[in-house]
Amino acid sequence: MKEQGSKSTVFDAVERENEYIAWVKRDNDRITEETGRRPLVYSETFGCQQNEADSEKLLGLSVMMGFLVTDSMDDADLIVVNTCAVREHAEKRALSFIGQYKKLKERKPSLLIGVGGCMVSKPDRIEQVKKSYPYVDFVFGTSSFYRLPELICKRRMGSKRIFCETEEYTVPEGLPAVRKSSYRAWVSVMYGCNNFCTYCIVPYVRGRERSRDREDIIREVRDLISRGYKDITLLGQNVNSYGKDRGDGYTFPDLLDELASIPGDYLLRFMTSHPKDASDRLIEVMAKHPHIARCFHLPMQAGSDRVLQRMNRRYSVAHYKSIIEKIRAAMPDCVITSDIMIGFPGETEEDLTDTLRALSEIRFDMIYSFIYSVRPGTPAATMEDQIPDDVKNARFNRLLELQNTISYEKNLPLVGKTVRVLCDGESKNNPEFFSGRTEGNKLVFFRGREEDTGKFLNIRITGAEAFAYTGEKAEAES
Ligand code: 5AD
Ligand code: SF4
Repeated sequence: MKEQGSKSTVFDAVERENEYIAWVKRDNDRITEETGRRPLVYSETFGCQQNEADSEKLLGLSVMMGFLVTDSMDDADLIVVNTCAVREHAEKRALSFIGQYKKLKERKPSLLIGVGGCMVSKPDRIEQVKKSYPYVDFVFGTSSFYRLPELICKRRMGSKRIFCETEEYTVPEGLPAVRKSSYRAWVSVMYGCNNFCTYCIVPYVRGRERSRDREDIIREVRDLISRGYKDITLLGQNVNSYGKDRGDGYTFPDLLDELASIPGDYLLRFMTSHPKDASDRLIEVMAKHPHIARCFHLPMQAGSDRVLQRMNRRYSVAHYKSIIEKIRAAMPDCVITSDIMIGFPGETEEDLTDTLRALSEIRFDMIYSFIYSVRPGTPAATMEDQIPDDVKNARFNRLLELQNTISYEKNLPLVGKTVRVLCDGESKNNPEFFSGRTEGNKLVFFRGREEDTGKFLNIRITGAEAFAYTGEKAEAES
């Protein structure tokens, strides 16, 4: 076990859970022998990429314990749900899914149901699951997901239902992952957040910032590249804080520089960046490496200084714009995207006008837009002047209308050009077409073949809409 300073603890999770893993594996082998069928694990994930990455590890652990992965919850012997708490809607969806599992448990009492993630890292929701969902076997917050083997073992040995307490500073290493894709991968570089934006629940459910050991990250990325992964996203609530908790002066740009120097045919991305920490050095490193995608996601949240201050964002609109200018000066073709929130408590018509003006001036390629959702326990939840839903919705529509026009206009110049696109296979919504993503992460539809999946293709763009392009395969390089 490697101790890191006084705060976070980096440890080998497989080593720590070894005896439990072995016990469950033996138990699953016994079940397989008795029933002629290997126990199955089903997972459901809500929320962000960090949760997707955690779920891949939950599945990795499950496979280590002798489960097979299934896409059908009806057949499962173990169900793990990874929940989100960022907005109320995500919590409601997760709870309604968990509600469905009641009848599965009635039909198969040996089924184990585990609920993990952000929603159940809050005491009130843990209580709710305890009381209202008595068929849930165990609950594990974001920092306890590596304990899955222990929870399964104890429950199968007849223990009472288990509700894990949140451990704030864990950095579990060595967990195997069952990755959904064989060419796109998530790699967490840090966990937690110290920023306490007044609307946000994340610091309360994911704990304080703690960075992984750089050697572990480099080894993981090297391994992915050598196995043919083409698109690797470095994840963290605020990747620009990487390393600050370790105090050795090694920063996120240092890490990015080292990773992007690994030879191979791949693109690196990162998210999310907090504008107060996006440094000139980060932009320099991006600009010098062809392996780093020309794509920057920089949440602005609001275009009004008054609102930003009440959100505790700790930058001004002018500062935000100066970063955008630097990015564009260093990389004129860089795709820039943002998160914008509408309806924060106290938001006035004038604040909204400021935000819309900022969007018109900055001209993001795309935004992820959110209607403010009250998160009990955060400072904004008790602020006066909460905005009524109808006003929020009307403002939200104005935001979308403006951004749709901008996104469409930003997409037009690519028509007629040939770009590199990583093919994701047949489109789920329109099986006539294949889909893929450009270096700037924009969606492209084209006619492809099964063997194109997971490959970089040259696609000539033939048409543009606000959210996607159409194109056709081209032979020539762009
Ligand atoms: N309500 C609405 N949107 C939120 N976000 C975070 N907290 C809330 C909330 N309470 C949005 C922010 C963040 C994105 C991931 O989710 O815009 O950047
Ligand atoms: Fe939430 Fe702010 Fe941390 Fe992002 S930086 S996770 S919005 S508290």
